[in-house]
Amino acid sequence: MNDEHPASLAGRRIVVGVSGSIAAYKAVLVVRRLLEAGAIVDVAMTPAAAAFVTPLTFASLTHRPVVSDVLALDGDQQIAHIELAEAADAILLAPATANLLAELAAGLVPDAVTAIACASRAPVLVAPAMDAGMWTHPATQRNVAALRDYGYIVIEPEVGELASGLTGIGRLADPVHIVEAVERRFARSGDLEGVRVVVSAGGTREPIDPVRFIGNRSSGKMGAAIAEAARDRGASVTLVAGSMSVTPPRGVTVVEATTAAAMREAIIGAAPHADILVMAAAVADFAPVRPAKRKIKRDGSALNVELVPNPDIVAEVGEMPEDVRPFLIGFAAESDDLEANATGKLRDKGLDLIVGNVIGGPFDAIGSDENKVTVFGVEGPLTDWPMLPKRQVAERLWDLIVDRYRKARDGESPAPRGGRRSGG
Ligand code: C5P
Repeated sequence: MNDEHPASLAGRRIVVGVSGSIAAYKAVLVVRRLLEAGAIVDVAMTPAAAAFVTPLTFASLTHRPVVSDVLALDGDQQIAHIELAEAADAILLAPATANLLAELAAGLVPDAVTAIACASRAPVLVAPAMDAGMWTHPATQRNVAALRDYGYIVIEPEVGELASGLTGIGRLADPVHIVEAVERRFARSGDLEGVRVVVSAGGTREPIDPVRFIGNRSSGKMGAAIAEAARDRGASVTLVAGSMSVTPPRGVTVVEATTAAAMREAIIGAAPHADILVMAAAVADFAPVRPAKRKIKRDGSALNVELVPNPDIVAEVGEMPEDVRPFLIGFAAESDDLEANATGKLRDKGLDLIVGNVIGGPFDAIGSDENKVTVFGVEGPLTDWPMLPKRQVAERLWDLIVDRYRKARDGESPAPRGGRRSGG
């Protein structure tokens, strides 16, 4: 175990706040892993949490008193929750119930856990766990958005079997991932510190006339998650945003580009100044040759709109000279033969990696909060990942991209990149 976590949290004081979810038992595993990583862990519990796991369990593990009473004094007759709030290097709320999220969003402090989170200036990480209906309810989503606004790091719940017996999103993130999130918070510098990242996201809209367009259903959620994850790893991030149904993450430079032509201009301009380009946008393949200046009137006859192919933006970047070409990741949404089509595109477009997902089956990744992807290099498939929330897909993608990017930069590329560039 210690090989996995070589004292990455040595001497860090972490307060783990546990609230009343069936997932409270997993907090025991989280605490154990934090201890193994060298952290000094204090546990605070809501009264409901103590109904699921006893304070004695945590006290035995941490060899420290557990705070479950907001009015409790510590051994020095100090208010225990204030002492902990001040001493903490980070606060981890796991599991966080819908109720806890609502209290934190509203600034309510009915118990020791909320009191510590509210009183502390330490970074707060929150790992929600609840029924899928509760997680997707607009009230919960609004509370989560408020917490993100306060600067909390949200460790997204996973898709899986829930306490109700149903399968859906809401299961507490894997304890391993929770501890990794804490470790990332303390990594002296994120693994993308100083790296310039450009991400394109969303779909393009190709005007037919001033009000109509040809577009697609892309929500931009995957690209936004990739940009957000890069930001959290220390990259300076430019998001080239097509039409998106989600708000771009804070702390990234947003360049709006709603047509393929505008996106081309933005990407071709930004690429030579970027170290890594992730082309997650769904760029329309065709655009009306001449958009009408005025709204086209209906006159009973058929309307023919002549379409011309759009420039393949990522392929153009793939052909840039080596000294300005960023490390290049494309996406491929395929309805059949994912591997052949994705690796074909990787070669044709001169990419380093391509992220493939199957569309048109029973699960529709477009617009969903989850995605199941396979990443391909020129040598074939590199991953076998399950269906995951898009933010976790983004994290895994960055783990892989950073590794490959470093190797390519240091001249130990595991395999030649996609072809055109090298004349293939
Ligand atoms: O060929 P296809 O559209 O499936 O390729 C998808 C990849 O190519 C994505 O990374 C997409 O952003 C990029 N693309 C592009 N310019 C286009 C079409 C797609 O950069 N005109």
